[in-house]
Amino acid sequence: MRISVIGCGYLGAVHAAALATLGHDVVGVDVDPVKLAALRRGEAPFFEPGLPELLVEAGATGRLTFTDDISAVRGARVHFITVGTPQLKGSNAADLRYVDAAFDQLLPQLSAGDVVVGKSTVPVGTAARLAAKVADGGSGAVLAWNPEFLREGFAVKDSLTPDRLVFGLPPRPEAASTAETALREVYAAALADDTPLVLTDYATAELVKVSANAFLATKISFINAMAEIAETTGADVTQLADAIGFDGRIGRRFLGAGVGFGGGCLPKDIRGFMARAEELGRGESVAFLKEVDAINLRRRAKVVDHVVDLLDHEPYGKTVAVLGLAFKPHSDDVRDSPALDVAVRLTGLGARVRATDPEAIANARALHPQLDYRASFEEAVAGADVMVLVTEWDQYRYLDPDAVAPLVAARNVVDGRNSYDPARWRAAGWTYRGLGRP
Ligand SMILES: NC(=O)c1ccc[n+]([C@@H]2O[C@H](COP(=O)([O-])OP(=O)(O)OC[C@H]3O[C@@H](n4cnc5c(N)ncnc54)[C@H](O)[C@@H]3O)[C@@H](O)[C@H]2O)c1
Repeated sequence: MRISVIGCGYLGAVHAAALATLGHDVVGVDVDPVKLAALRRGEAPFFEPGLPELLVEAGATGRLTFTDDISAVRGARVHFITVGTPQLKGSNAADLRYVDAAFDQLLPQLSAGDVVVGKSTVPVGTAARLAAKVADGGSGAVLAWNPEFLREGFAVKDSLTPDRLVFGLPPRPEAASTAETALREVYAAALADDTPLVLTDYATAELVKVSANAFLATKISFINAMAEIAETTGADVTQLADAIGFDGRIGRRFLGAGVGFGGGCLPKDIRGFMARAEELGRGESVAFLKEVDAINLRRRAKVVDHVVDLLDHEPYGKTVAVLGLAFKPHSDDVRDSPALDVAVRLTGLGARVRATDPEAIANARALHPQLDYRASFEEAVAGADVMVLVTEWDQYRYLDPDAVAPLVAARNVVDGRNSYDPARWRAAGWTYRGLGRP
């Protein structure tokens, strides 16, 4: 099938390449010339494991092209909208300007029978509004909403073999049938593999995505709230998580207490959900998300507090090694990254922060050029008064405390991800601070 993908960022580039590998003929459209130049060379414009190989594989088929010319989408039967929906400045709400612009550019290119498929995460009610726009355009195209659940770091696998598919279909049966038929063809490979498919209306499809992220954020903040209680009582939140995680109804995943969540999705999605619920007069239904957000941000402050404490409350001029800048390992994404936030806060307190990350330094520098970035772990920790682990890349997680000891000025470690065995680090002479553990 000929398919267009409008917006080639973390979601769209992977989606386009995955669809081409699965046998479709795909044109990716973006407005960013740097990104397009990389994609045209068959190179990933950001770090995502497996994406370079996927782009080479898809490129070799001759079925994947990239352009800034929206008219190139003509002739495609399905048009995916995968542009960003960041948080609006000065508000909790989602900024829909890119989605609206993409629709405005796409509408004149559409023909009867075309299916426009929204994939961006949007506030509930957006699809119905955009469907009216598509109908007003008079092309005879229809709109479906197909939320995306890929995880950065696992985006290739998640795109090729999703754990579920949700098709939000239009209310008119004929239009719904057109959209469903086209989407079944797009995802024929996944559906043949018995991937669960949920057919819904627009509102449900939009809500599935934000409620999934709200649930995950809540689970993380729940265990981080328990970490706060553990800190006051001397309990160990990691043991608590293990013990409650054995209950199948609870489960151990996403119960890792630490510096909390970040990234281009969870924080802005829960805030956007709160803003939309307020608009709908149902703010109270998701008022708990305000606490989820607040607990999450308090954990960043707690990591900073631990560092300041280990520096005898005199951080000015002290050297602090910050390990990690990406919001999570296996990604170079620093959007709303707890790690970068910790580095910025410590710099603000006058500490000489040396921040490092295997993949995210360029993105971090673009946002915060004032920070001191070090390309290697060794350069970052050299002469450090405190070492802080904030993004649990394997190369930081599995450090040998005896091997690191001679590199630093003082054996102080703050484990923002509860990744280390405190007994082992203490035995090697380190003062260890984790989150929610003695
Ligand atoms: N990143 C993820 O892990 C992920 C997962 C699920 C859902 N989502 C959702 O997917 C959407 C995209 O997220 P992302 O992380 O890929 O964002 P991103 O910022 O990485 O990518 C968005 C891309 O859209 C392009 N763009 C903007 N306006 C355009 C236009 N008019 N025409 C063509 N291209 C345009 C930008 O240049 C950019 O390359 C968001 O709504 C996000 O919430 C993201």
